[in-house]
Amino acid sequence: MGFMDVTEVLQIADELVFRQTGKHLDDLQETVIKGVWEDKTYDKMAHDCEKSESHLRNIGYKLLHLFSEHLDEDINKKNFRSTLSRLELTSSPIIIQHNNNNFNFCNSYELNNHQEKNINPQIYDLTLAPVVNYFYGKERELKQLSHYIFKQNLKLISVLGLSGIGKTYLVKKFVDLNLDQFELIIWKNLKLTNDLSQIMTDILSKNINDQDSQIYSDHQIDQFLNLLKNKRCLIIFDHVQELFIKEKLAGQFQEQFKNYQDLFNLIKEIDHQSHVILISDEQCQLMLSLDQKLTPVKCLELEGLTNPEFLTNFNLKDEKNLLNLINLYQGNYNYLKDIAYLIKDIFGGKVAEFLAENELILTEDIKASLTELFNKLSPIEKEIVLKLSQYDQPITKQELKQNFNLSLTDLINGLQSLNRRFLIKYQDQEKLLFSLIPVFQKYVKTLVTMY
Ligand SMILES: Nc1ncnc2c1ncn2[C@@H]1O[C@H](COP(=O)(O)OP(=O)(O)O)[C@@H](O)[C@H]1O
Ligand SMILES: [Mg+2]
Repeated sequence: MGFMDVTEVLQIADELVFRQTGKHLDDLQETVIKGVWEDKTYDKMAHDCEKSESHLRNIGYKLLHLFSEHLDEDINKKNFRSTLSRLELTSSPIIIQHNNNNFNFCNSYELNNHQEKNINPQIYDLTLAPVVNYFYGKERELKQLSHYIFKQNLKLISVLGLSGIGKTYLVKKFVDLNLDQFELIIWKNLKLTNDLSQIMTDILSKNINDQDSQIYSDHQIDQFLNLLKNKRCLIIFDHVQELFIKEKLAGQFQEQFKNYQDLFNLIKEIDHQSHVILISDEQCQLMLSLDQKLTPVKCLELEGLTNPEFLTNFNLKDEKNLLNLINLYQGNYNYLKDIAYLIKDIFGGKVAEFLAENELILTEDIKASLTELFNKLSPIEKEIVLKLSQYDQPITKQELKQNFNLSLTDLINGLQSLNRRFLIKYQDQEKLLFSLIPVFQKYVKTLVTMY
């Protein structure tokens, strides 16, 4: 049982890279492996070799991803050395077979290699995406996204769920893991810029050299669609709910943003080799696919975390209660982070003591985020949630109808809209039962007592 040294690590890296690309490690990749092994920051490495930090970071992501896949472990910059040492890899653990000069890849590479590798230079603009250093769980959802994009070749994919449930993180992680699968990756945050024309100019200008043409504002859409045809692009629009009308039923585009609606519809309909991911707290019609065979569209609804590993970072005591805590807050990362701080501050870090209060506590931040949701509701929805909040058990549509002055149409449209905001739950038992999600139920109740 010898210790690993960096030479062995480089040898393994070289074999992994060779297997994937047919090329040996280049100097820069070697620098990054050494740097990661020695726990240097990307900043320091960048300084040492006079390259940009983001470039080295990209190289690092890809290499760490190769190791993760090969070893079937979640390997990141922080745990690289310890994991490799723990696994006590000896040199040459990889056998490469040559069959008529074709490589035989092991299973974990199939997904990545069913498409040819990129030869063109890659363009990334991920400046507006969060850096994901710690990422736990969500393996199923990551696989699902891979499946939609690489296997089913779906053009428009929506990642949906309540704010704080982990949508942005999931998609960014997917991007990090698949950087080398796309020629162009652009991440746009519609909370910060929502001028479509400006967004398109920006994307097109990154491609102006090899398109050999200028951007004419009246041909922007054409040029953009051509780009989707000519290159394998992944374009992410985060915070799509910003485009929708407030205080109306969910998922309706504001007049000034109808051009997005048209664009997204075109992306579904025309032939191209790219993929667009919409991230949103609110579902809209064009994200749905009723005819699954005909429309290359899917939604991925997130359910929050189930694995307490995320909370162990917060050094809370009595870990056995973490699962109860997670369930109480429906696995919402943002709520749980907030509650974790509260438990540290006020309960001496003891989860059991907090749970013993036997009440769903809403912090000021949680309340603020729920107020934002409540204020976006249409009048019909507000009426429904105020009513629903009075029942502690799920109730049937019939019961709701009897206790209401709303017309059946309003009631049904209201329920659908609340469902598209992920604020109600259906239970499909003998009868269909409705309830508000617990955190929102608690919030609306406090509103009622205020009035
Ligand atoms: N898989 C994950 N592993 C670790 N932390 C996560 C994960 N998903 C989300 N988080 C944490 O929760 C926060 C909220 O997640 P985010 O993706 O921004 O939610 P959403 O986009 O749905 O509002 C993130 O800032 C991050 O700290
Ligand atoms: Mg988000």
